[in-house]
Amino acid sequence: MQATIRDLSQYVGQEVRLGAWMYNKRSSGKIQFLQLRDGTGTIQGVLVKNQVDPAIWEEAQKLTQESSLYVWGTVREDERAPSGYEMDVTKIETIQLAEEYPIANKEHGTDFLMDHRHLWIRSSRQNAILKIRAEIVRSIRGYLDQNNFTLVDPPILTPSSAEGTTNLFHTKYFDEDAYLTQSGQLYMEAAAMAFNKVYSFGPTFRAEKSKTRRHLIEFWMIEPEMAFVDQEENMKVQEEMVSYAVQQVLANCASELKLLGRDTKALEKIQAPFPRISYDEAVELLHREGFPEFQWGEDFGAPHETKIAESFDKPVFITNYPTGIKAFYMKPDPNRPEVVLCSDMIAPEGYGEIIGGSQRIDDPELLAERFKEYDLSDEAYRWYLDLRKYGSVPHSGFGLGLERTVAWICGLEHVRETIPFPRMLNRLYP
Ligand code: 4AD
Ligand code: MG
Repeated sequence: MQATIRDLSQYVGQEVRLGAWMYNKRSSGKIQFLQLRDGTGTIQGVLVKNQVDPAIWEEAQKLTQESSLYVWGTVREDERAPSGYEMDVTKIETIQLAEEYPIANKEHGTDFLMDHRHLWIRSSRQNAILKIRAEIVRSIRGYLDQNNFTLVDPPILTPSSAEGTTNLFHTKYFDEDAYLTQSGQLYMEAAAMAFNKVYSFGPTFRAEKSKTRRHLIEFWMIEPEMAFVDQEENMKVQEEMVSYAVQQVLANCASELKLLGRDTKALEKIQAPFPRISYDEAVELLHREGFPEFQWGEDFGAPHETKIAESFDKPVFITNYPTGIKAFYMKPDPNRPEVVLCSDMIAPEGYGEIIGGSQRIDDPELLAERFKEYDLSDEAYRWYLDLRKYGSVPHSGFGLGLERTVAWICGLEHVRETIPFPRMLNRLYP
């Protein structure tokens, strides 16, 4: 019977075959303890010298770190084992004897590990992070699917920008110029007019020369967009969705969170509703708490966001930013056009902005004015203006940055560990 380590509990007392890699080994002379992993979990295989064929004993002795093998044995419950089970090995068959493995069981520098990312993802910590990433994606998609959002995939190659022109990745598209998408939002607005509630989930690109623990060049965004929804309701969807994802990770990834040493008490508090403060209130807070020089109209940097988040043990919405520092498509507050109907969701514990969202301009004349102000060509955005000519409706949406969300939920120092193969300033390999 071919089993995986994850479901060994079903095979107690039975003989099974596992496909596995050897990640560590100890021997007492009469007993060999093989630490095996198969990607679904880890288990200790026990070989007793006078109980197995001498050829098998010898083969086991030759196994190097990360050698691949088939191993046969009987599954036994063992309270002391981290997984609760051990395997009494009766037979092994080496598939490949691995060359000397570059990632030994010792400390390595980050650059070295990043150069070996294709191997590093096998290690238990990296494995746990990427499993939590998968769980966050699964839960967010589950939340949106259950709430009648239709998945719509926007293009990756685009003729124009969605989030400003300073960080576009340029490429030739035969004779035309093209850019890698910064956000699927504009296309999701078209989709919302066709399907009502929609979301996209895909890679987005920003050619930003920032080398911070929050920035990637290529990152994944979940972008819901909703017709007939205003900014207030938009925030409700965001807080519900994020609470659901955190609670699902707590329920389904307990062993991974434990391995990472994550404080789960902090995560248990993440339940909607989340606090809201206006940009104006946030500026007052900064004036009181160590940033007396901060000027109304400036954008918040990482230290400001961290300071604001310190006052809360849940994510906090900062609402109604000055119009001048936000994107061209955001709807101005009708009572106060110098601010827009928007919010950034700032994660607790210094993880910064994980969501940016807003109500969108629905008036064709105001949008056309914005194109002029922002120097965006009418030609390139004609289709986007069409959405305001043929049955324009109030609508809102947001973008959740997956990697920053994973970093926060896992409690990591840097986003580089939250994505299988990070693309950063000075890193395109492997
Ligand atoms: O705030 P941003 O730029 O918003 C948009 O792109 C909107 N068009 C989204 C929408 O309304 N549909 O980006 C959204 C989120 C940020 O809050 C952040 O979490 C993440 O994307 N993000 C990055 N993550 C990693 N590296 C970067 N360079 C990022 N830039 C943005
Ligand atoms: Mg933003």
